[in-house]
Amino acid sequence: MAKARSVYRCTECGHDHPKWVGRCEACGEWNSVAEEPVTLRAPDRRSAVPGRRAAEPPSRLRDIAESRLVRWSTGLPELDFVLGSGLVPGSMTLVGGEPGIGKSTLLLQAAARLEAGGRTVLYASGEESPEQVRLRAGRLEEDAGPVHVLGETRLEAILEAATTIQADLLVLDSIQTVYTDLLEGAPGNVGQVRECAARLMRYAKETGSAVVVVGHVTKGGGIAGPKTLEHIVDTVLYFEGESTLDHRLLRATKNRFGSVDEIGVFTMTGHGLVPVPNPSALFLAARDTGSTGSAVTALMEGTRPVLVEVQALAARSGFGTPQRVATGLDQKRLAVLLAVLERRGGTSFADLDVFVQVTAGVRLKEPASDLAVAAALVSSVLNRAAPADAIFLGELGLGGEVRPIGGIERRLIEATRLGFRRVFASGRTAGKIQGLTLVGLDHIDQLVAALAA
Ligand code: TYD
Ligand code: MG
Repeated sequence: MAKARSVYRCTECGHDHPKWVGRCEACGEWNSVAEEPVTLRAPDRRSAVPGRRAAEPPSRLRDIAESRLVRWSTGLPELDFVLGSGLVPGSMTLVGGEPGIGKSTLLLQAAARLEAGGRTVLYASGEESPEQVRLRAGRLEEDAGPVHVLGETRLEAILEAATTIQADLLVLDSIQTVYTDLLEGAPGNVGQVRECAARLMRYAKETGSAVVVVGHVTKGGGIAGPKTLEHIVDTVLYFEGESTLDHRLLRATKNRFGSVDEIGVFTMTGHGLVPVPNPSALFLAARDTGSTGSAVTALMEGTRPVLVEVQALAARSGFGTPQRVATGLDQKRLAVLLAVLERRGGTSFADLDVFVQVTAGVRLKEPASDLAVAAALVSSVLNRAAPADAIFLGELGLGGEVRPIGGIERRLIEATRLGFRRVFASGRTAGKIQGLTLVGLDHIDQLVAALAA
């Protein structure tokens, strides 16, 4: 069969070129021209005039049957949780992450568990040979034996195989290695990735099967390929972690069927990824309770409270302009908190370098963690350790006032579970939690006084 004809279209302005060019002739954008197939359709005989036999008449919303949203459990509770209680049939999910983080391992484990639950899974790998996949499977706790494996990069062949075995789930590792016959460009180029993704999406919708594709991550942290890739799919998951640490965080950045706030935590072991049902304990495991410049707070990651340690170090600066380095929180937020401590709390950082970091690669996104950052900073400056059994929860206003925060009950329940006995929070905090003593603060200078005592 002859190759289908294709055009080279600018993804910015839509201008067509007869051959590939590095810069669009119409809008002048660099690297925006991508190959696209020209599909010759049979002429549409239906009339375009409204009212003259539309293919399907529109229905009123109230007449549309409320089909119950079915979900398939992957057998990995943490993965199900991030997906929004399982895979949705007829959907497409993109899993991004740096090489070696464990994407292939996670998906092979899910594939094995789905097979064990009676689903048919095709694991198509363009990255590794079936032998390599088998080697990996040998390490896993799960029995991946029944999973169908295909070492193939041609999309047409993969879809045919999936149709033949009537796969409920098609895993494609990775989108950058597949290509379609319709285009001449090499696998991984913008046109190929977009066309393959669009066809996989159509395949998912038409067959009612779930499709999960792996996507590489560029140095900038985004998934390689066209931006449209993330727009096409239903769900985008990122698998992240520090290469030196064993734990991995799975989070959704887009989810048409659930929340994007939830995180799932795993540890990479010698026999695959193991879900961590209690992330707080893991995140606090390395804490040195007697050390200065450390404070614990509880974040809400979606619906789940997670305890993390904030560390601060203030050191005499060797240079003219002191440094302010924030890891895991916004640099500007740190600047605000330092200014509040300076003006309202009477603690000066003027000639000190300040370093703040959050353990375990977690990010502080809520103002509720202000008080913990302030406590860690004050503790470092005063060289006095914060009480080991205390947790800090509060937002700081520019006037130095400590404000109450939302969702405090759930955070406190988690804190008591992990053995914390005291909570530093706004004096206006309502509600009592058994086993916790409230150290009520109205103003930042009370925090400074409490830590100095
Ligand atoms: P992998 O799933 O291949 O990562 P990705 O697909 O994201 O590139 O994971 C690779 C790493 O995980 C590799 O360094 C080996 C390690 N690993 C384990 O530590 N234990 C295991 O059981 C498996 C299968 C892999
Ligand atoms: Mg891989």
